[in-house]
Amino acid sequence: MAFHALEKLMFLEDGYRREFVINGIPLLLLQEGGRPQLIRNQCPHRGQPLTHGDVSNGVIRCPGHGWSFNLSDGQCRLPGPGPCLTRYALIYEGTQIGVDL
Ligand code: FES
Repeated sequence: MAFHALEKLMFLEDGYRREFVINGIPLLLLQEGGRPQLIRNQCPHRGQPLTHGDVSNGVIRCPGHGWSFNLSDGQCRLPGPGPCLTRYALIYEGTQIGVDL
C-alpha cells in the first residue's frame, strides 16, 4: 500500500466532486455537509459511475436505477438492504488529503 495524494485541502468545499483511478480502482472524492468522502465510483447494483449521482442529507443516489447509499457507512437505503457502496478511509497529510491503496 502507498499513499496517493488526491487533493489539496484548500480546494475542498461542499459540492466538490472529482474522479480518480488508482491502481485500476475508480474512485470518487466528494464533499457534503463539510465532510469529505471517498467512495468507489461504481454502483454496487450494475456498476454505473456515481459521478453525477444526486447527493442529499448524506445519501448518494445512483443515476442508473435510483439505488441510494449512505455516504457515512455505504449501506444501501433504497431499494433496501443490499450490497454496500465501497468506502475508503481518507488520510490527511500536511495540506493534502489522500488514500492508502
Ligand atoms: S447501476 Fe446504480 S442503481 Fe443500477
